[in-house]
Amino acid sequence: MARVFSGIQPTGEVHLGNYLGAIVNWVRDLDVDDSTFCVVDLHAITIPQDPGILRSKSRNLTALLIACGIDPERCTLFVQSHVPEHAQLAWIMQSVVSYGELGRMTQFKDKSDQHDFVSAGLFTYPALQAADILLYDTEKVPVGADQKQHIELCRDAAERFNRRFAADDDPVFVVPVHSTPAAGARVMDLQNPTKKMSKSLDSPQGTVLVLDEPKAVEKKFKRAVTDSEAVVRYAPDDPDKAGVTNLLSILSAVTGADPDSLAGKYEQYGPLKADCAAAVIEHVVPIQQRYAELVDDPAELDRLIAAGAAKAHAKAAEVLARAERAIGLGAH
Ligand code: AMP
Ligand code: TRP
Repeated sequence: MARVFSGIQPTGEVHLGNYLGAIVNWVRDLDVDDSTFCVVDLHAITIPQDPGILRSKSRNLTALLIACGIDPERCTLFVQSHVPEHAQLAWIMQSVVSYGELGRMTQFKDKSDQHDFVSAGLFTYPALQAADILLYDTEKVPVGADQKQHIELCRDAAERFNRRFAADDDPVFVVPVHSTPAAGARVMDLQNPTKKMSKSLDSPQGTVLVLDEPKAVEKKFKRAVTDSEAVVRYAPDDPDKAGVTNLLSILSAVTGADPDSLAGKYEQYGPLKADCAAAVIEHVVPIQQRYAELVDDPAELDRLIAAGAAKAHAKAAEVLARAERAIGLGAH
């Protein structure tokens, strides 16, 4: 069993791309890995957030992950700010990574260009991310390609810390590797099928949310952009067929059937869109019901969130103590 850690920001809505591209894989691997998933609210405040909304988003995302099948009995699921060791180790890691290294992070460059007020936290964000990972003796970090640079920095920081503060045969930190998640479905925007479905809300009609009402799901699929050829075929390399190919891969991802053989069943786009909507609805309705039950029972959700934090804290405290002892901090 590999120790796996991943973090997800409580900003933005969870859409079909996140679900079929990432969450489904996490759920499938719950039994083969020792997994820890963290709702990273400390990372979220590096850009301005409304306090009340941030709190409810962190809570609701935790509930939604559970509803999607991230079973807290079979993994550790928690909210980052509930486990103080993250902020504590992050401070230490800020002294281990260099200003120059942080300045080379492309995500910082992108995000700082988008905001007038650039917080120091936005700059040191990767040191917090390194702390997240190192606190659980993580071996594998499944994240998208955009996060690879942060994982490389985490590896460099862990190695540097071990070299400076630990004996060769008794390292303080496990050095993790980046893992490309098993190829999940790549879900494209329904209105703009050569673009990935994404949380930037500039294409609300092209983005299907896991919590969309069935009527809205139906409408979005009905209006999905296709082409004028009127032939249903699965052609991942043909940009002219991007819309139809996307519908077939979504249908394939939710039903488990092969996209080519699905294509053979349809002569027209209308029925394909209708079946796609129906299959997605059939898939998300139980998630929505479970989600509603969780948010309607705040005491139970609080219990699950607190239990997750306690489980995470037990491990994190042990690793933080190891790091503090090595570096000469704390009353150890
Ligand atoms: P994001 O919300 O963009 O940070 O993505 C969270 C996770 O969902 C990452 O692991 C992404 O790889 C995955 N993801 C996001 N959008 C899509 C998409 N359109 N298709 C497949 N996977 C996606
Ligand atoms: N930075 C990641 C993102 O924007 C989220 C994240 C925070 C994370 N801490 C992590 C991912 C630790 C993997 C491991 O998506």
